[in-house]
Amino acid sequence: YSPCYILAIETSCDETAVAVVKDGHEVLSNMISSQIETHKAFGGVVPEVASRKHVESITLMIEEAVTASGIPMKDLSAIAVTQGPGLVGALLVGVVAAKSLSVALSKPLIGTHHIAGHIYANRLVGDIKYPCMALVVSGGHTELVYMKQEGHFEVIGQTRDDAVGEAYDKVARSIGFPYPGGPHVDRAAMESDESIDLPRAWLEAGSYDFSFSGLKSAVLNVINQRKMRGETPIIGAIARGFQESVVEVLVTKAILAVKAYGVKQLLLCGGVAANRGLRTELQRKCAKEGIDLSIPPFEYCTDNAAMIGAAAYIKWREQYFTPLDMKADPQLPL
Ligand code: KG4
Ligand code: ZN
Repeated sequence: YSPCYILAIETSCDETAVAVVKDGHEVLSNMISSQIETHKAFGGVVPEVASRKHVESITLMIEEAVTASGIPMKDLSAIAVTQGPGLVGALLVGVVAAKSLSVALSKPLIGTHHIAGHIYANRLVGDIKYPCMALVVSGGHTELVYMKQEGHFEVIGQTRDDAVGEAYDKVARSIGFPYPGGPHVDRAAMESDESIDLPRAWLEAGSYDFSFSGLKSAVLNVINQRKMRGETPIIGAIARGFQESVVEVLVTKAILAVKAYGVKQLLLCGGVAANRGLRTELQRKCAKEGIDLSIPPFEYCTDNAAMIGAAAYIKWREQYFTPLDMKADPQLPL
């Protein structure tokens, strides 16, 4: 046995992240440089600014992650990088850095899918039991992914409009929270005793798709109506009503999918997996239904590079490497 040390790079959005992961599950180092403070001023991620920030910090982040891991560069087994989806200019920075390292160190390159990374974050906390179902909830994605076996992904449902994190951030902005507003809405919802009734988008019977734009509009209507009457928005009640609607739809569809596909485990992942309302309700329902639920700790839910190292390990085991002419792909299919 010779251990596998993967250096993983993730720059698909607004975090410059580099990690070293041993054998796909042991995190030796996990460095993240967040650009949130920079983007806050604009109320969201500005792609051009994100790319520039990645360029500024990537080299230092790689150096720090390698040093912190205690593994000399020459002992690395492979260089993994998020190939997509994401912001193309942001992805490019990571891809170019990874290719350069791959050439300079003569180490194989492993292009990795960002969502596969979010899903495999669960491998950092324990073995995944197949077949399984993953509920991926982030700022860019809302998907139910069926995995018959290791490395096989079938998207059985996805959002038809906004991603759930995107809806959180937009609603947050409309009630006056700074970017990214998801955690603020979560807190306000948990602290509020009152809740307003908002619609649930179930879509056609049997569909595992999601839709959040109607809900977002319903929130805006409530705020505007109150404004016209000269009333201030009831922030806590709106946050709680919104969260209740989102959580009920996500949890119900995920449980239906688990039952319909007869899977052994449900995995929750993506930035919105940090949401306390969602975690609590999913844990409660799964306990009641006897469903094995896996949720990674907070730091592996939001964008990070350790999850990319975990996903890349699956390819490394098969010696499935990526040619050096690989391109960053903002629409990379799973
Ligand atoms: O996975 P992630 O870091 O980036 C993407 O790949 O999109 O997810 C970021 C998203 C943001 O929309 C943020 O508002 C949301 O996750 N988020 C939350 C919470 N923490 C982060 N949304 C709701 N409740 C939270 N506690
Ligand atoms: Zn993500």
